[in-house]
Amino acid sequence: MANVRLEEITRRFGGSTAIKDISFEVPDGQFWVLVGPSGCGKSTILRTIAGLEPVTQGKLYIGDTLVNQVPARQRDVAMVFQNYALYPHMTVAQNLAFGLRMRQVDPSKIQGQIETVARSLDIAHLMDRKPRQLSGGQQQRVALGRAIARKPRVFLLDEPLSNLDAQLRDDTRAELKQLHQNFGITTVYVTHDQVEAMTLADQIVVLNKGQIQQIGEPQAIYARPANKMVAAFLGSPPMNLLEARLDDQQFWVDQQTLPCPATMQPIKLPKSQRVSLGIRPEHVQIASGEKFHLQVDVTVVEPLGRETLIRGILPEGDRTAPQVINLQTGPTVNPKPGERLPLQFNLDRLFVFDSITGERLYPFE
Ligand SMILES: Nc1ncnc2c1ncn2[C@@H]1O[C@H](COP(=O)(O)OP(=O)(O)OP(=O)(O)O)[C@@H](O)[C@H]1O
Ligand SMILES: [Mg+2]
Repeated sequence: MANVRLEEITRRFGGSTAIKDISFEVPDGQFWVLVGPSGCGKSTILRTIAGLEPVTQGKLYIGDTLVNQVPARQRDVAMVFQNYALYPHMTVAQNLAFGLRMRQVDPSKIQGQIETVARSLDIAHLMDRKPRQLSGGQQQRVALGRAIARKPRVFLLDEPLSNLDAQLRDDTRAELKQLHQNFGITTVYVTHDQVEAMTLADQIVVLNKGQIQQIGEPQAIYARPANKMVAAFLGSPPMNLLEARLDDQQFWVDQQTLPCPATMQPIKLPKSQRVSLGIRPEHVQIASGEKFHLQVDVTVVEPLGRETLIRGILPEGDRTAPQVINLQTGPTVNPKPGERLPLQFNLDRLFVFDSITGERLYPFE
């Protein structure tokens, strides 16, 4: 096994830059997730590590070895692609054994090795089938098994669950986590699904437009997003973002005002500075007494059983597109569309972002 280190990796295609100055180090045995919207450069980074894509600039190390010039097949990495591409004419057992046969592993050992992997992936009963006789989820597990059986030093997974239906995706996600706990192979995993990122990762790397936005543990990024993009990307429903301006120690949100949190007083933003306020749906409640922070007009109510999601818009906004607030409440709360709701914010959990650059201004740390 091995650590993977990227030092200021840039990859250009002709005139356009797919990834720029990417630096991070995945320690031996950890599970890192690259996440970000379509086109942000996730697959390019993975393909670079695999050796399927040359780097334009920068250094790439696997273990202590600089591998920029090392061809893919000598890097001892296994990559599972989104379209997992099993060999259609081979059985499951032959697919699983393929990588080992290519590496001239002693045939007497191959059988035992693939059986262990097949058992851990719950595909041992399918060994004699051909891929077309398997469900999508089973094919996916065979593709994972084929990669694991090789015992690579590094495991690279590019959206491996995206072809599965919701239930199977949840199950396979949990299996993947279990597998990593069992085998401990250094893993870099690409997804645009923030739930996969949050649940699987030791560390998340959030990317946008070819550049790293933030690196950290899932909970740390969730609690302290570095900018508006990260704030909006991790969390479902996403963080509410409201355009506002600061005046006289209060925020003006359209025609309504919201007090600055007490701990924010030291901040000396220029008068009338335009900001984006961020508040997660779980930190907005329906006000119970006389006091409230903002009022919204309810537009949509979504009962989910365990909780209810409510979407509202700020009334009398001075803009063509009204500002939206989402909140999560208990299952018994059931307002009607059109109803005006007074809301209470947990101001300790308020974020302030620069509305132009998107950088977080508050909390300071
Ligand atoms: N071979 C190529 N030639 C030119 N541009 C490319 C090539 N491969 C990727 N790109 C560009 O590089 C950028 C990053 O692409 P990449 O495939 O890494 O994105 P991604 O984050 O994996 O997106 P998705 O979530 O859609 O898979 C995109 O703008 C893409 O158009
Ligand atoms: Mg991709």
